[in-house]
Amino acid sequence: VNSGGGWPLARAGEVVLGPGAIHLWSANLDSLLGGAGAARACLAPGELERAAAFRFERDAGRFVVGRALLRRLLGGYLGVHPAEPVLATGEHGKPLLDPPGSIHFNLSHSGGVALMAFSREAEVGVDVERIQDFPDLEAMMRRYFAPAERDAIAAMTSREERREAFFRCWTRKEAVLKALGWGLAVPLDSFEVTVAREDSSRVTAMRAGAAPPEGWRLASPEPAPGFAAAVAWIGPQLAASSWAWEGEL
Ligand SMILES: CC(C)(COP(=O)(O)OP(=O)(O)OC[C@H]1O[C@@H](n2cnc3c(N)ncnc32)[C@H](O)[C@@H]1OP(=O)(O)O)[C@@H](O)C(=O)NCCC(=O)NCCS
Repeated sequence: VNSGGGWPLARAGEVVLGPGAIHLWSANLDSLLGGAGAARACLAPGELERAAAFRFERDAGRFVVGRALLRRLLGGYLGVHPAEPVLATGEHGKPLLDPPGSIHFNLSHSGGVALMAFSREAEVGVDVERIQDFPDLEAMMRRYFAPAERDAIAAMTSREERREAFFRCWTRKEAVLKALGWGLAVPLDSFEVTVAREDSSRVTAMRAGAAPPEGWRLASPEPAPGFAAAVAWIGPQLAASSWAWEGEL
């Protein structure tokens, strides 16, 4: 079972996270829901409380299997049981290892697809979004995007191109904010990214208080058809490798 993106299949513990690397994992959370009951065993009490607070069973199940998967992958990299890593929450909600460990990570999910990133070198942020139609893309762009981003998207000829570019831009911006741990506590139009498909993706302007644009690295992986995704980090160029989670949890 994979997320359909054509990434090679693997499981936790099969790959080593060395220096200079960034690892991306995708998974189809819905295909893992059957294992949700057993997956609870490796969750912390606070995570089980969060699961219990979801209104819909499917959302609770996706949260449980997503957390269990995150814990399996962290456990695999750290050489410990998945229940062992202690996860704390940053000021704006970013999950972090406690005490701050040797691995930086971040995760995102949309429409049952999860994307997770791991690195030993740099604080990372990821975002995945299912590409969908908005009745008023222009209003969304006016509300959230910087002028240069809006202009670049508006100049595209077909509606489909504009829609895809919107999601490329959106995921790149969210990945940047998630690398910083700021989440949407900071306005999305307070910095700028490129919107073109070509993988020259980069930050072109940054608000005060974060690394300058040239310090940022940005990539747009493709975890599954019909989804846009981005990963962002500050610092050295890292070699990105991608896997889709194989089989059950
Ligand atoms: C982080 C945020 C951008 C996520 O957006 P989203 O597209 O809805 O969701 P995604 O699936 O991409 O990401 C969710 C995951 O990001 C992680 N996350 C949460 N807050 C984060 C933050 N500040 N930085 C980085 N990652 C964060 C969590 O792992 C979360 O998954 P989980 O809930 O299963 O643990 C959004 O929830 C946010 O801005 N939160 C902060 C809100 C805030 O700061 N409020 C302050 C008062 S206004």
